[in-house]
Amino acid sequence: MTRLADFVAGRSLAWLYDAYWVPTVLDVHARALAEPVRAGQRVLDLACGTGIVAGYAAAKAGPAGEVVGLDPTPDLLGAARAKSLPGAPIRWIDGSGEEIPFEESSFDQVLCHQGLQYLTDREKTFAEIARVLRPGGTLHAGVWSSAADQLAFGFVEDSLARHIGPEQKPVHAWSFGGLPELARLAEGAGLSIERLETVARPARFESIQRYVDTQIACAGRTDENGQLAMGLVDLEDERWLPAIDAFAADAHEALAARVQDGVLVAPFVSDELRAAKPR
Ligand SMILES: C[S@@+](CC[C@H](N)C(=O)[O-])C[C@H]1O[C@@H](n2cnc3c(N)ncnc32)[C@H](O)[C@@H]1O
Repeated sequence: MTRLADFVAGRSLAWLYDAYWVPTVLDVHARALAEPVRAGQRVLDLACGTGIVAGYAAAKAGPAGEVVGLDPTPDLLGAARAKSLPGAPIRWIDGSGEEIPFEESSFDQVLCHQGLQYLTDREKTFAEIARVLRPGGTLHAGVWSSAADQLAFGFVEDSLARHIGPEQKPVHAWSFGGLPELARLAEGAGLSIERLETVARPARFESIQRYVDTQIACAGRTDENGQLAMGLVDLEDERWLPAIDAFAADAHEALAARVQDGVLVAPFVSDELRAAKPR
C-alpha cells in the first residue's frame, strides 16, 4: 500500500470530502453563500454534495422554512441524509441540475456551491433554475476561479500537468470560465444580475503535506456516469510516488511563506453570482 492509499485507508468519497475539503476550504465559502436565506423561505441547494450549504440554509430558514438538497452522487447524498441538521426540514433528492424535479416557482432561493463546473448542460441547468425560482427569487452561486486567478495555488495546475500528466490541466474544479461565463448563463436564462464578484477566503491545512495529500487523493472530477469520483492517480500504484513527491516539492516552494505556526493559511478564490428572476 502506498502512503496515499494509507491516508485514504479505503474510506468513502463522502468521508474524505467531509474530513479534508469541507473544514479546510469549503466551509467559509458555503456559510457565506447561505447568508442571504431568510426565516420561512423555501431553498434549493443544487449540487448539495454532503450538505454543507443545505445545513447552513436550514439553520437560517428555521422550522417554518423548507430546504431541498439535490445531487446525483449517491455516496455524497447518503452522507448528507445521515446528518441530523437543525432548523428547517431538509429533503435530500437524487437528481441533477439539468432536470430539477419541481414545479415552476417552487423556491425563494436557489443556492449552488462549487457545482456549476460539474454540470453536463449549463444552459439547460440555468433554464431549470430560472423555472423553479419564484418571481423575485434569487440564485446565489459560487464557482472556483481559474488557476491564473488562484492567488496562492496558481502553481498547482502546471505542476500537476508537469509531474502527473497533461490531462491534469485544467484542474476540473477551476475550469468553469469565470465571471463572464456566470454572466452569460444568468442573462441567457433571463435572470437579472445583482452581484458578480471575485472573492478570496482563507483555506487552512494543518500542513503543506496535508494539502498535497488532499489534492492528490481527494480531488474530484466527474466520471463517465456523471458522478463525482475521487483521486488524481491510482493511489495503490507506487510508481506514482516520485511524481507526487515532485508536486510536493513545488508546493513547499510556492506555499512555505504562507505557513503560520505550522498551519498553511492561503486563499481559495471563488467567482460569485447573485441573480434574480424578474417579477
Ligand atoms: C465539489 S462538489 C460540491 C458539493 C457542495 N455543494 C459543497 O459545497 O460541498 C460538486 C457536486 O456537484 C455534483 N454534481 C455533479 N454533476 C451534477 C449535476 N449534473 N447536477 C447537479 N449536481 C451535480 C456532484 O455530485 C458534487 O456533489
